[in-house]
Amino acid sequence: MTIPLLSEHAISILRRNDHGGYTVPTHGLYPYQWNWDSAFVALGFAEFDRDRAWVELETLVSGQWDDGMIPQIIFHQDDPGYFPGPAVWATGRTPPTSGITQPPVLASIVRHLWQAEGADPAHPRMRALVAACLKSHRWFHTYRDPLANGLVMVTHNWETGRDNSSEWDEALDRVDTSRVGSYQRRDTAHVDAAMRPTAREYDRYVAILQFGRACGWDHREIADHGPFRMIDVGMSMELLRANRDLLVMVQAIGDSATADELKARIALSEHGVDWLWNEDAGAYCSRDLGTGQSSGLVTNASFLAFYAGVGNAAQHARLIAALGRLTHSARFLLPSLEAGSRAYDHQRYWRGPIWLVVSYMVALGLAETGHQAWADRIRSDSAGLIELSGFYESFSPETGAGSGGPDFSWTAAMWLAWCGKVASP
Ligand code: DGY
Repeated sequence: MTIPLLSEHAISILRRNDHGGYTVPTHGLYPYQWNWDSAFVALGFAEFDRDRAWVELETLVSGQWDDGMIPQIIFHQDDPGYFPGPAVWATGRTPPTSGITQPPVLASIVRHLWQAEGADPAHPRMRALVAACLKSHRWFHTYRDPLANGLVMVTHNWETGRDNSSEWDEALDRVDTSRVGSYQRRDTAHVDAAMRPTAREYDRYVAILQFGRACGWDHREIADHGPFRMIDVGMSMELLRANRDLLVMVQAIGDSATADELKARIALSEHGVDWLWNEDAGAYCSRDLGTGQSSGLVTNASFLAFYAGVGNAAQHARLIAALGRLTHSARFLLPSLEAGSRAYDHQRYWRGPIWLVVSYMVALGLAETGHQAWADRIRSDSAGLIELSGFYESFSPETGAGSGGPDFSWTAAMWLAWCGKVASP
C-alpha cells in the first residue's frame, strides 16, 4: 500500500474503533476505553479531527476517581467478551472502572495538542485537562512514591502497560495464588495464546486484583501491603516527562505556586532515577521493592531515559551502545526485550515484540537529545513494520510479523502522528 492509502486506512481504523467519545484499542480483545491507549489515540485523531482528539481525553478523565487516580480501564458498556470485566473489579464507580491506573502520559499529549493549536494560555479544554492531570500526578506522589524519591511504584503489572514484561517475573513468583479459584480468560479466544501471557501468569494477575477488591480498593492499603510492589522504570520516566510537560502549561497559565510544586517534583525524580541505573546492564531497569533487586534487563522502557531527559554522557553512551547491540539480534527496532534475555520470545506480548507507542516516545527523546540518526532509524523501522504487516497491536522484531490484535487504534495513531509522516522526530 502507498503512504496515502495507509493513511486512509489508519483513519478508517480510528473511525471504526470509535464508540462515540472513546475509542476501543481493537474490537474483540479490548472492548473498553484504556487509559494510555486513549492518550495516544488522541494524537492520531488530532491529525484529521481536532475536536474528536480533545473529546477522547475528556471522556478519559470523566472516569477519574475522587482521590485523583485516572483508571486503567473505563467500562462504558458491559461486554462479555472481556475478562476481567466490571463485575470482577467491583469498584463501585460510575462509570464503572478498574481499580488500578496506567502510564501517566496524558499531560504530555495535552501539551502536544495545545501547542499545535497555538499554545493559548486561555485554552479552556487545555486548562480543564491540566487540572485533571495535576490531580492525577498528586495521586502518584501521595500513593505511589514510597521511597520519596520521585519514582513510581506500581501495585499491579497491568498498571505498567508492559503487562508480562520479564521484569516482573520474580515479584510475580511470590504472589500467592492459592485462593484465586476458577475463572475463564477471554483474551485467548480472540488471539493466539502463544502471543499472550501464560495461565500461570494470569493466576497471579487475578490474585493481585482480588487483593484490591478485598480491601475495597483502598489505595493506601494496596500501596502499603499489596502483594506486588515494583518501582517501574517506564512509569517513572513517563511521569517525570509528564511533569515537565505539565510545568510548561502551568507556567503559561501563570500559576507560580503549582509551578514551584512541579519543579520540586521534577528535581526529586531527576535524582531518584539514579537508583534505577544498573551499571552491569548499562541501562535503567525496574527494581523490586520487596527485595531491592534490579531486573538487570534491557527493555524498551530503559531507553525512555532520553524522553525523560535524564542520564549523563557516560550513561547515554551505554544506552546508545545497547541500541547498537540490538540491531544485531533484531531486524527491526525497538524490541521490548533484548534477545537472549531470560524469557525472551519474539511474539509473546512484552517479552520481545515491538510496541510503536514506546518506540515513538523513545525516538522523540533521542531526537531531543541529539541522537537524530537513531530517532530516524526507529521511525523508519516502525513505518516499515506497518507497511509489511498492517496495523497490528505489536510486531516481531525478528520477522516484522504482527502479533496480538489487528486494526489497532494506537498503531494507526502512531502512523498518522509520527512514523507515516514525511518529516517527524
Ligand atoms: C489485558 O487485558 O491484557 C490488558 O492489557 C490489561 O490492561
